[in-house]
Amino acid sequence: MSRRPPARKPRGPSRSLPRTLELDIRSLGGRGDGIGRHQDEAVFVPGALPGERVAVQVDSRRGDGLAAALLQVLTPSPDRQTPPCPHFGRCGGCALQHLAPEAYQTWKRGLLVEAMGRAGFEADLVAPLVAIAPGSRRRATFAFAKRRKLLHLGFNGRASHTLVDLDSCLLLAPPLLALLPALRALLEAVIEDGTEGDVAVTLTETGLDLLVEAEARLDLFDRERLAAFAEQQDLARLSWRRPGTGLTEPLARRRPPIVRFAGVGVELPPAAFLQPSAEGERALSALVFDAVGGAAPVADLFAGCGSFSFPLAQKAPVHAVEGDGAALAALKAAAGHAGVRVSAEQRDLARQPLLTEELARYRAVVFDPPRAGAAAQAEQLARSTVPLVVAVSCNPATLARDARLLAQGGYRLRRATPVDQFPWSAHLEAVAVFTR
Ligand SMILES: C[S@@+](CC[C@H](N)C(=O)[O-])C[C@H]1O[C@@H](n2cnc3c(N)ncnc32)[C@H](O)[C@@H]1O
Repeated sequence: MSRRPPARKPRGPSRSLPRTLELDIRSLGGRGDGIGRHQDEAVFVPGALPGERVAVQVDSRRGDGLAAALLQVLTPSPDRQTPPCPHFGRCGGCALQHLAPEAYQTWKRGLLVEAMGRAGFEADLVAPLVAIAPGSRRRATFAFAKRRKLLHLGFNGRASHTLVDLDSCLLLAPPLLALLPALRALLEAVIEDGTEGDVAVTLTETGLDLLVEAEARLDLFDRERLAAFAEQQDLARLSWRRPGTGLTEPLARRRPPIVRFAGVGVELPPAAFLQPSAEGERALSALVFDAVGGAAPVADLFAGCGSFSFPLAQKAPVHAVEGDGAALAALKAAAGHAGVRVSAEQRDLARQPLLTEELARYRAVVFDPPRAGAAAQAEQLARSTVPLVVAVSCNPATLARDARLLAQGGYRLRRATPVDQFPWSAHLEAVAVFTR
């Protein structure tokens, strides 16, 4: 491999990048990249592992370091394994298939340990990792694009918007994977050349639910073709949304798409939030259920369609609060049909968190916000008298920030359990339990 002479120590923002380097990789970063050092700068290398000596090509600056492509592993780590998927490296779905399972799980738990550590919490409060098996993803959004009359359908490439055409994927539940060839043929027929879009596919208990989001002039012939596809594939529902309109047009609704939480059937609105695997949902829900114990009444904040509200309602009255009108309507209708003790309120919890006075009546509060976390709500909780708070999170950094707010208000972290619902990726979920 040809190498250039080592670059001079760069100075100032216009400093030129070194092109090729040999590096020792010292750690794995939060996105799963190997991290080495060149002079005084961190170098991020996707595909490299701690303990390895590697040759890299520096591409660009990234934050306060350099981004580099792996050219060659000169001394491999004993934890290196052959990635099980042929798309690994190009596809953006996975970052760490080249790391052996035990080392991978240690790294993954470490993401929570590190984030919580930075906020002042001890590592021994972080429980062992709960690992969800690959092949169980019941919900995925595929990107597609039609170029030169060919339809490409799959996941976006790693750190890019190139599209990796998928014929296999180890993450997906088999019915999602089985749909792809027919879906590709359908979209090729109804989408115009040069059009891009995405399709959200959800496996419900009554069949697949699809929402296509793309520009298209669907004439009568296209609509018939789409309805026939729904019939042939035995879909529960097929809907279409034009980007930026927010309007969803149902094209075929053969059965209501139903998911069940603690036996309560909820009709999912198109593209409503649903935990990506049934196994992951059960693991999170069991941790929440056990943590809440016999406390009553309970508030379930950022409740979605009720994945925690309905199990909790088996033992306590639950007040479910959610910002999305369609999700909340689905939850409310399901609670009404089932006759369970769940009340529902639509509210933007970032702008209008439940106030300290409103929180006073609950013996336990569960919150499960999006990646941005729940800072406004955590601030109100910190001033409240609620004895038990359970935080569910898909982002260790914002969980740690919210946990710190609670701790400053006098809460004590009892346990934080990492749940790996996105195997081989850098995403991690967690359930943290606080008492006062
Ligand atoms: C991670 S999901 C959790 C949903 C549910 N707990 C579950 O497990 O299925 C986060 C939920 O928060 C809702 N959400 C996002 N921003 C919100 C806000 N500002 N106020 C209230 N709800 C919000 C989303 O619509 C979504 O349903």
